[in-house]
Amino acid sequence: MGGGCVVEWLGLRWTVNLVAARDVLVFHRTVLLIIICKMNPTIQIRNIALECGVAVWTRSVVMRSDLTACRFLSDNVDYRGFDNGDAMFTLRRRHTFDPKTKLKTRRQKFAKYMEDQYTHQHQGDVSMNTTEETMRQMGLPWIGETIDFIKAQKKNRLYEDFIQARIQKHGKTFKTRLMGYPTVVVNGAEANKFFLSNEFKLVVSSWPSSSVQLMGENSIMEKQGDAHRCLRGIVATSLSSSGLEGLVPRICQTIGTHLEKYWNGGEKVISLYSLTKVLTFTIVLECLLGIEVKPGMLDLFERVLEGVFAAPVNFPGSKFSRAKSARKEIENVLVDIIRRKRKEMEKRKEKGREEEGILLSRLVGALIRGEISEVEVVDNVVLLVFAAHDTTSFAIAMTFRMLANHPHCCSVLEKEHTDILSCKGPEETLTYEDTKKMNYTWQVARESMRIFPPIFGSFRKAIDDIEYDGYTIPKGWKVLWTAYGTHYDEEYFEDPLSFNPDRFEDPIQPYAFVPFGGGPRLCAGYQLAKLNILIFVHYVVTRYNWSLVSPDEPITIDPLPFPSQGMPIRISPKLP
Ligand code: HEM
Repeated sequence: MGGGCVVEWLGLRWTVNLVAARDVLVFHRTVLLIIICKMNPTIQIRNIALECGVAVWTRSVVMRSDLTACRFLSDNVDYRGFDNGDAMFTLRRRHTFDPKTKLKTRRQKFAKYMEDQYTHQHQGDVSMNTTEETMRQMGLPWIGETIDFIKAQKKNRLYEDFIQARIQKHGKTFKTRLMGYPTVVVNGAEANKFFLSNEFKLVVSSWPSSSVQLMGENSIMEKQGDAHRCLRGIVATSLSSSGLEGLVPRICQTIGTHLEKYWNGGEKVISLYSLTKVLTFTIVLECLLGIEVKPGMLDLFERVLEGVFAAPVNFPGSKFSRAKSARKEIENVLVDIIRRKRKEMEKRKEKGREEEGILLSRLVGALIRGEISEVEVVDNVVLLVFAAHDTTSFAIAMTFRMLANHPHCCSVLEKEHTDILSCKGPEETLTYEDTKKMNYTWQVARESMRIFPPIFGSFRKAIDDIEYDGYTIPKGWKVLWTAYGTHYDEEYFEDPLSFNPDRFEDPIQPYAFVPFGGGPRLCAGYQLAKLNILIFVHYVVTRYNWSLVSPDEPITIDPLPFPSQGMPIRISPKLP
């Protein structure tokens, strides 16, 4: 919508342009108040009160300040939030509007200032890329605020040191420049919903070049539209409820073998996170994909992961080049496996015995039918392994950390598992039905992921100019949504920094809890991750006494979060 209209404001008449139906947008230090009254072209500011240092614009009012006015506001006021639908701004420079000065004088001063500015007004809409000032706010050329971003991330203080500070300064939507790209950081459930559900329509997922080269250009995370749907369909069949039901006995068996190998043997200290990584790696490869884990495989994958967010510089010895050569080795192994599988499946087909079940067979089946290529199978196996194992092991590690620090929650959780165990025979393993009874455990795991999301968020790229909440995000800009932006917001989670699994007893507002993302790219392995966590917790709490060796162990990020010492725990077998 567009068009001019006359606004009477502080005794002056202003001609302003109306933009789309929007409420209030606070972006960076530019405060833009846009309230639409479609039916009424002549709009009156009904209430501007500059009292006690607080400016209030009534919501029913229509005003769109021009660029200069926005600058004026951004220089002089701080956004405070909403109160009963009104936008609140605190005056930053009290000397400009001294609260002791009579209201009339202050109004006159303000009106005079605005009038002066208005005569020098800039033409055109305020968008994300128009002013010199806003470019300055994005930091240095190219590098922008990348260093601050990475520093904060490494310390696992992305929210506190980077996001929160900017939200306070500029509002929930702010722009910056990261890794060479102008980037809009969006926060809040509405923003998550808008950007995540508009995947392929307004935005597409956008990973750094090194990630794409190492995960593979043909992996699901790089696919869009029909190609994405096709791959997602293949992957989702194995990860659907019916596919997963069949996986439960295999997961139980793998966990049993793992515990026997690494956990049994009396009282000792083990590294929970490092060992859980071995376990989740085995579960995704052997249980989900049907590929036997060979010695050295995990190390190869780890080497690739180290380069995923490194600069894509391929000189000998660099992180990226080491990662590339590890990726090449993985590729060779996988191509061998895929070709063998193909031959096997083609032979079976000749004999009329189709293979079902495991995901590798499904991918190779699609290859045989000509729906996908060999390189697509390789890239997606690599992607699935990465997507699955570090994330799940971190979620497990944080679940145990929170349980250790909250003994009451731990005993409620233990009771849930002893109750399940008491209904089973001595040799009976868990079933899919049993996992459905683990409600409290899943609440604990979700609360742990709320506080420690295994994936902080991800980048999108605008494929068109996007009108969002009154702003135009130009085509080509990046958009970063983060889990912290809602998980740590008291609008969605009361007392957000406290650990309270009970909050998940009630439904959570859609798109407020987003450790698994949302929209068409919602984590494809969400259900598998859930099973993995629940079953592992069950076996550990029913079989072992355990305690943290370093309760305050720092969390580091490189490139994904992990406990810096591998999370040592002291364990001993539980007496029957
Ligand atoms: C606690 C564990 C996990 C967490 C926190 C997690 C988180 C996520 C997130 C946030 C996304 C969306 C990224 C985006 O929007 O750009 C995602 C996507 C994905 N995840 Fe997970 N994930 C987990 C476990 C798994 C597992 C176990 C698998 C597979 C076996 C898996 C497979 C995938 C795949 C294939 C995608 C890409 C989906 C697409 O692009 O359509 N994830 N995951």
